[in-house]
Amino acid sequence: MFFPSSLLVLAAAASVQAAIYDITVGSSNGTLAFSPEAIAANVGDQVVFHFQQKNHTATQSSFAAPCSPMEGGFDSGFNFVPANQTDNFPTYTITVNDTKPIWVFCDQAANTAASHCGAGMVFAVNCGADGSANSFTNFKASALAIGQQLKASASAAGTPSATVPLDASLTTAAYGTATIPAAPSESVVTVTVTVEASTWTTVYSSYPGSPAATPASLAGNVHVVQVGNNGTLAYDPPFVVAQPRDIVQFVFHQKNHTATQSSFAAPCLPFMAADGTPGADSGFMPVADNSTDFPSWNITVNDTNPLWFYCKQKKPDGTSHCGAGMVFAVNPVQSSARNFTAFQTLAATLNGTNATGAVSPSGSGVPAPSTTGAAASVGVNLALGLGAVLTVFATML
Ligand SMILES: *[C@@H]1O[C@H](CO)[C@@H](O)[C@H](O)[C@H]1NC(C)=O
Ligand SMILES: *[C@@H]1O[C@H](CO)[C@@H](O)[C@H](O)[C@H]1NC(C)=O
Ligand SMILES: *[C@@H]1O[C@H](CO)[C@@H](O)[C@H](O)[C@H]1NC(C)=O
Ligand SMILES: *[C@@H]1O[C@H](CO)[C@@H](O)[C@H](O)[C@H]1NC(C)=O
Ligand SMILES: *[C@@H]1O[C@H](CO)[C@@H](O)[C@H](O)[C@H]1NC(C)=O
Ligand SMILES: *[C@@H]1O[C@H](CO)[C@@H](O)[C@H](O)[C@H]1NC(C)=O
Ligand SMILES: *[C@@H]1O[C@H](CO)[C@@H](O)[C@H](O)[C@H]1NC(C)=O
Ligand SMILES: *[C@@H]1O[C@H](CO)[C@@H](O)[C@H](O)[C@H]1NC(C)=O
Ligand SMILES: *[C@@H]1O[C@H](CO)[C@@H](O)[C@H](O)[C@H]1NC(C)=O
Ligand SMILES: *[C@@H]1O[C@H](CO)[C@@H](O)[C@H](O)[C@H]1NC(C)=O
Ligand SMILES: *[C@@H]1O[C@H](CO)[C@@H](O)[C@H](O)[C@H]1NC(C)=O
Ligand SMILES: *[C@@H]1O[C@H](CO)[C@@H](O)[C@H](O)[C@H]1NC(C)=O
Repeated sequence: MFFPSSLLVLAAAASVQAAIYDITVGSSNGTLAFSPEAIAANVGDQVVFHFQQKNHTATQSSFAAPCSPMEGGFDSGFNFVPANQTDNFPTYTITVNDTKPIWVFCDQAANTAASHCGAGMVFAVNCGADGSANSFTNFKASALAIGQQLKASASAAGTPSATVPLDASLTTAAYGTATIPAAPSESVVTVTVTVEASTWTTVYSSYPGSPAATPASLAGNVHVVQVGNNGTLAYDPPFVVAQPRDIVQFVFHQKNHTATQSSFAAPCLPFMAADGTPGADSGFMPVADNSTDFPSWNITVNDTNPLWFYCKQKKPDGTSHCGAGMVFAVNPVQSSARNFTAFQTLAATLNGTNATGAVSPSGSGVPAPSTTGAAASVGVNLALGLGAVLTVFATML
């Protein structure tokens, strides 16, 4: 008799008893770890956390933000166990409701150099296999990177256990004096993508109005950006909405400009990832006045996270093209306070002629406000249109 194979699998699953997984949190010698660190569990299985010495939690987070409580997620709260207690350890139990990954961390000493999560105290149920984007190895590495960042910030501030805000929640710029808005909250979405004859699963950060994670084609679309056209200190268009695999092609015109990756909090300084990897940089692209040959430089968009860029050229008076508003963005969240205009205004505030420490404010001065040209308007409409699609993805979380 013929049965569809999926029915056979369901029947087999139903006959299996729900399992109980015992996880040790901490240890008698003070280890900052969950043991085991990662398990695979079926729907209906239970995970029991056994809290040992010290004062730990089992708090649900997300792949994108390993050391931050997930909104609406579970949280054991703090379980203090004195060093001389040898049994009757407190427990906390969760039930596995579906096969999606569950990410967990210890919330002790959150956002300080002593963060347990930052020391790698994380745990996962049904994470991706090693080698996949959402593997346990990648999750733990990102928790450890947060720990490094917290330690670096604390030692820079000379306050070893002070509370240090992370980039996403920074309220002051990375240099100069300016208050900046918090980053819009992201949600991590796992979707199966089919493009042409290929299908794969992708995990990405989705923001309100993010473009789809689905590439337009295997080769991607090409977004051409004119740099310094007609002697302007501007990128045209000033920002683009791009999907993964799309290419942003910068075409350099007369003068001597760059397209250099930065970050929202430090708009006119080169970007560096938490692990020390530098950001993208075209380098200087000098173009003679009489030239009709315009060099290009490309970046490939890999996800839907915002990317921020500036021109690092300085003017003879010591101020910079960046401070004059020569900045660019890929996928800025236009509906949030960290929109393109906010980024450009911050660049002018921190590096413009009026910035503290800037050289005499003679000459040019205020940056021209960005003209939302045809391409940019299309981008906004695109973002709104695809937002609806993303809402559907988000409910699959
Ligand atoms: C600490 O405890 C862990 C888990 O019980 C054990 O694997 C490790 O060997 C211990 N380390 C020391 C130094 O006792
Ligand atoms: C456990 O840690 C939390 C957070 O640091 C703290 O508020 C609480 O007082 C601690 N409990 C004990 C008994 O030390
Ligand atoms: C642990 O030590 C505290 C204070 O030193 C004492 O009050 C308590 O009774 C001890 N608990 C056990 C289980 O020995
Ligand atoms: C499973 O569902 C129950 C009931 O809705 C909920 O209390 C629990 O937190 C869920 N478990 C997880 C791991 O989200
Ligand atoms: C550049 O100048 C030319 C000639 O004045 C004009 O046709 C063109 O529209 C200008 N381009 C931009 C991007 O301003
Ligand atoms: C382009 O600008 C950089 C930095 O100001 C400078 O070092 C380089 O010599 C310039 N190139 C040309 C050809 O002017
Ligand atoms: C541009 O001008 C320079 C110097 O005036 C000259 O050497 C060069 O051949 C010119 N190039 C073109 C493409 O006309
Ligand atoms: C940038 O991409 C475009 C479109 O694929 C291509 O034509 C161009 O040669 C690329 N430029 C560079 C410098 O790779
Ligand atoms: C996208 O990924 C490729 C390959 O890993 C990398 O070379 C490129 O720099 C990435 N693009 C960005 C904008 O980070
Ligand atoms: C912007 O200002 C900061 C702080 O003064 C400085 O370190 C940086 O080099 C400036 N950026 C540019 C492109 O001039
Ligand atoms: C864009 O950012 C600016 C500055 O943060 C803010 O005043 C404005 O309301 C933002 N726009 C939107 C649509 O949120
Ligand atoms: C810069 O300072 C001058 C003089 O104080 C002022 O008139 C001008 O509005 C300022 N520009 C900006 C962009 O703040």
